[in-house]
Amino acid sequence: MTPVRSVDGWAYLESTRQLTDNLLARYAPSVEAEPRSLHEAMRYSLMAGGKRLRPILCLAAFEYCGGKPREKDDPVHLAMAALEMVHTYSLIHDDLPCMDDDDLRRGLPTVHKKFGEALAVLAGDALHVVAFELMARTNSIPAVAELSAAVGTSGMLGGQVADLEAEGRRVTEAEISNIHARKTGALIRGSVRIGAILAGADQKMLARLTSYGEKIGLAFQIVDDVLDIEGDARILGKEIGSDSKNQKATYPAAVGLETAKARAGGLIDEALALFEPYDDNVLTYIARYIGQREN
Ligand code: IPE
Ligand code: IPE
Ligand code: MG
Ligand code: MG
Ligand code: MG
Repeated sequence: MTPVRSVDGWAYLESTRQLTDNLLARYAPSVEAEPRSLHEAMRYSLMAGGKRLRPILCLAAFEYCGGKPREKDDPVHLAMAALEMVHTYSLIHDDLPCMDDDDLRRGLPTVHKKFGEALAVLAGDALHVVAFELMARTNSIPAVAELSAAVGTSGMLGGQVADLEAEGRRVTEAEISNIHARKTGALIRGSVRIGAILAGADQKMLARLTSYGEKIGLAFQIVDDVLDIEGDARILGKEIGSDSKNQKATYPAAVGLETAKARAGGLIDEALALFEPYDDNVLTYIARYIGQREN
């Protein structure tokens, strides 16, 4: 049987990562402009690298729905940069001493270690604002609303609060899945949905891709928890053992390491089952990649 679509997923990830780096370099405020220290802190964390998963998902969903980027400041390119800026802001704040208190991120000292806490708070704030400025330039109110919902109090921010409030406590699987779906799943789901919305996807397609985003989003955070135990700090670019240091509620803490891995695998299988068995496309490639990633 001939595959419906066959892709070189690795090449797609590489080229879209490169594209994202170029977009961020273009849209982030210049270090030549005042306030230089703030712009430097923003660029330091943005350009330190990272998997660029959220922009990649946004473009992949956009193209899966038939979208084609047409112009230099194409709405999908603006949204890709915005998603990575929101994500980077969340990491800068997540690492602060008042939250997870981590010293290493993307292979470099965290922003508060390098620039101090005040600039870390402000660099996060500034990335959040620039992200919404870029979203406004997409001229798509549904896409702006989507990002607001993904990062807002019922999405990422609500999840981060629940994550902090669960420290030191044993949680049920239902609770941890709810925390993870919000703190990490919401932005991943939102990235997929923004791509689909910008491509003009119909409701049926949007519902299918929403389900895909939810499943891989939750799987992504379960794998993150597993890597905090079993990963290699040099590959991850962040210290391992942060969760046990903070007595975090995690999937392995709630259900055990092996069950956590099985849950992540089960979610990836469910995400793949949303596509035809022989539909080998970028989204199925990314789902498999999330299940196997080492960083
Ligand atoms: C780390 O995100 C924080 C989580 C939501 C688990 P990533 O693992 O996507 O980090 P980068 O962007 O590749 O550095
Ligand atoms: C972070 O989860 C989620 C967000 C930043 C919204 P973690 O705290 O587990 O992420 P890492 O492990 O520090 O990257
Ligand atoms: Mg955290
Ligand atoms: Mg953390
Ligand atoms: Mg983690």
